[in-house]
Amino acid sequence: MKTNKFYVTTPIYYVTAAPHLGSLYSTLLADVAARYHRMMGQEVFFLTGTDEHGQKVAEAAKKADKNPKEFVDGFIESYTSMWKLYEIEYTKFIRTTDQYHVHAVQTWISRLLKQGDIYKGAYTGWYCTPCETFVTEKDQKDQNPGSAQGFAEAREVTCPSCLRPTNQISEECYFFRLSAYQDKLLQFFEQHSDFITPKERLHEVISFVKDGLKDLSISRTTVSWGIPFPGDSKHVTYVWADALNNYITAIGYGRPETEKDLHFWWPADLQILGKDIVRFHAIYWPAFLMASGLEMPKKLLVHGWIKVGDAKMSKSLGNAVDPRSLAALYGVDQIRYYLTRKMAITQDSEFSIADIEQCINSELADDLGNLLNRCSTLAEKYSYTTIQGSASWSPESKKLQEQCAKMIQESLSLIEQGFFYRAVNHVWEFINHVNSYFHASEPWKLAAGNPAKFQETIAATVYSLRAIAVMLWPVMPQKMEMLLESIGYTLPEDKAMISVIENVNWNDSLTIKKIETLFKKYEKIMEEKTIPAAPQVEVNYASIEDFAKIDLRVGMIFQCEIVEKSDKLLKLQVDFGDFGKRQIFSGMRKYFTPEDLIGKQAVFVVNFKPRMMMGMPSEGMMLTADGALVTVSSSIPNGAQVR
Ligand code: ME8
Ligand code: MG
Repeated sequence: MKTNKFYVTTPIYYVTAAPHLGSLYSTLLADVAARYHRMMGQEVFFLTGTDEHGQKVAEAAKKADKNPKEFVDGFIESYTSMWKLYEIEYTKFIRTTDQYHVHAVQTWISRLLKQGDIYKGAYTGWYCTPCETFVTEKDQKDQNPGSAQGFAEAREVTCPSCLRPTNQISEECYFFRLSAYQDKLLQFFEQHSDFITPKERLHEVISFVKDGLKDLSISRTTVSWGIPFPGDSKHVTYVWADALNNYITAIGYGRPETEKDLHFWWPADLQILGKDIVRFHAIYWPAFLMASGLEMPKKLLVHGWIKVGDAKMSKSLGNAVDPRSLAALYGVDQIRYYLTRKMAITQDSEFSIADIEQCINSELADDLGNLLNRCSTLAEKYSYTTIQGSASWSPESKKLQEQCAKMIQESLSLIEQGFFYRAVNHVWEFINHVNSYFHASEPWKLAAGNPAKFQETIAATVYSLRAIAVMLWPVMPQKMEMLLESIGYTLPEDKAMISVIENVNWNDSLTIKKIETLFKKYEKIMEEKTIPAAPQVEVNYASIEDFAKIDLRVGMIFQCEIVEKSDKLLKLQVDFGDFGKRQIFSGMRKYFTPEDLIGKQAVFVVNFKPRMMMGMPSEGMMLTADGALVTVSSSIPNGAQVR
């Protein structure tokens, strides 16, 4: 009935900080899913937003000396502009402070109060403010197996998730009758073994539910920054009861005039979240929905963490982990590709700059960009720019056609399950096939002697490239649009283009137009000639006189620009106070954008012999430590010597 719609959601993020690589990752996966489904001709609703209530936000606001609303308002732009930068095309951005959401949550509570699924009681427990959750007795037991002390009498309880100390609180509160849903939940899980991708996570959820569910406290009297509890002004709504409902309030729950939208879009087809919040989404949320008489989401996609590896890596990353710096350094689509392909959904994945560069160089530039380039160069050279299907494809071309059809079919089935990274692997396998086909045909030798065979090779490669670009468009929309344009395929307005490639339609006419390099390669950013390496001598004691030879000074970078002709260099203008102003080049563009440096004080060597760089003199060297700036604590005058 509703097969032609696709509703996808992300977690709504706490607005105590700007978005980071982790929030980008979940949101990107949702965008990739949304684009795949648009491509398949479905009507898509893509929801994201921010979670703005609760004690954590109230405390952060207080620290910043702002009222909570003012405080959260200040973060919204950092989210919307980040999503815009990364080509995240959401349908709606919900804020839990939006009035329609506030009213709808109150309506939800009133309905459940009336039917008895919410009731008033009292609760004593250990509460973790950063995670906005009570520690359960089971968590406590897992943490201290064999501990003689009972949970209620414990003197100190650590949060199992963030390992911070918790506070014991006792308060009158409202409960959601979660215990009543234990059996129904288990029955649901049993009948829907594909409810969670990856499957293993469902087993964890089932065993948690089997251990027994207690009723869930859903109001607080100790917090004031939240949705007022209907009919009891002492209470505000617990953040999770507020936040989870965003998935239905955003599409119309609780307002008679939007009921039909709710029923059009609900149930969600895909809800994306990190493994940290699986319990809330796989247990509480389905129970809330059961109590509300609404269907279960079709699928939860639960991904692991992006980790910032070993000590050395994380130090050298510095601000590069900021998604904005990454985009500036490597390009938006390149980072979208890296995150989609290299972060396995099923496990934690290590973030690494070396992997990004490797991905760009060997996969995007060598495998894909180079294939397009070689093919279009030959087509132009021998004036075969308008390709046509062949009446009699050779066995090799037919095989390629079959591989193409298989790639599409296998990728789509993985996409259906939420395994985007595996789908992209299949596309890459096919890219390798096309490269082998192209190479084995040796079209550069055929042009003169066997034009028919030459034309067939070019045509088959172009049709393959179209299928590849369409399949990768959800991951790299800008770059793949460029590729498609260069082979004369115009994307339809609604992006519903799967049928064009699915029918293995190798007979329409396409016109090739050579374009600039699709993906630039990255050299290793630091080179010995830019930054002198320490001399490698067995015993290399320095004397105090040696040290005194080096004039190190504090300077303020008042101007900084990218050197266009180089991909490593930054040109700095540095103020050394009484010591004067200097122009200094730095090879650290990989780690810093001009915005990162302007206005910062750093330490410089100022008595190296001036060197010419890109035809301009450089009079010093900026010190860094593993990609981080060497700075001084506040109130050091410019020009001060470092000794
Ligand atoms: O939990 N790797 O908000 P939150 C991968 N407001 N994903 C990560 C990540 C990382 N290192 N760090 C964060 C909340 N994430 C609640 C959600 S929903 C009704 C309410 C992603 O700002 C991941 O999706 O702490 C994780 O689940 C989410 O951000 C947590 O975001
Ligand atoms: Mg969190």
